[in-house]
Amino acid sequence: MNAAVRAVVRKAIYNNIEVYGVYQGYQGLLNDDIEKLELGSVGDTIQRGGTFLYSARCPEFKEVEVRKKGIENLRKRGIEGLVVIGGDGSYRGAQRISEECPEIQTIGIPGTIDNDINGSDFTIGFDTALNTIIECVDKIRDTASSHARTFIIEVMGRDCGDLALWAGLSVGAETIIVPEVETDIKDIAEKIDNGIKRGKKHSIVMVAEGCMSGEVCAEELTKYINVDARVSVLGHIQRGGSPSGADRVLASRLGGHAVDLLLDGKSAIGVGIRNNELTDTPFDEIFRSHEHEFDFETYALTNELSI
Ligand code: F6P
Repeated sequence: MNAAVRAVVRKAIYNNIEVYGVYQGYQGLLNDDIEKLELGSVGDTIQRGGTFLYSARCPEFKEVEVRKKGIENLRKRGIEGLVVIGGDGSYRGAQRISEECPEIQTIGIPGTIDNDINGSDFTIGFDTALNTIIECVDKIRDTASSHARTFIIEVMGRDCGDLALWAGLSVGAETIIVPEVETDIKDIAEKIDNGIKRGKKHSIVMVAEGCMSGEVCAEELTKYINVDARVSVLGHIQRGGSPSGADRVLASRLGGHAVDLLLDGKSAIGVGIRNNELTDTPFDEIFRSHEHEFDFETYALTNELSI
């Protein structure tokens, strides 16, 4: 997210626009925790994980009376455009602001490790989380192979299976369990068993948290097969760390594009990337379809590669 903030700030100043940073998201907007940013404010941030502006959940922003206060804090500084980084909740808040105060343009940048935002093939943070998972599983594999164990790795992603899918493919997992595909644990157990009979010494099962927990997966599997199973829940380690090159580039492109749209007078739009092209999708359209398209073709490939 820092790389996106940096791009917004630098591109706006390059175009002679004054920029303010809102700390702690909508919570900071309500608390008037807003500060003018200069070129140097975003120096030395591109390599840092998280966001120097901090983040906070703010459920009360759903209330119109509460939003009025936030809008007032923007107006009193003469702020004409608001760029939010996040997902559904952030976009909905931004949409309400531009409905209730049309003179404030709003643009959304997709930021979440879950990769579950409509209108973009990728979200900021997904690639970094993916690389973290790969690094962890590569290490776990050493124990799996030397001790001949089956490892069940539970990864984040909320209701989206993208992290499990991409990570599973990248580490050569035997099985990937995602919410988008109905899975019969008995079939998975059979697959692992067949592998063992063919001489496989260990297996990696990648399970998305939105489907089931790693513990449940292990319990279910061991009802059918006698394996030495271990569970590893990677947890919040997936959300931190220095961003990958791909994420820095994506965040910079999306941040720059957000400023372009503001300069063009656009509002209530989510920026994104599709087939490596920058795209703009109205918030309405993003909300209409509730499901980020799952890549069933790549899912099928993972099965073909892990027979
Ligand atoms: O939506 C991002 C995400 O990291 C999910 O993958 C995960 O389930 C959730 O947030 C964790 O949220 P919290 O840090 O509030 O527990």
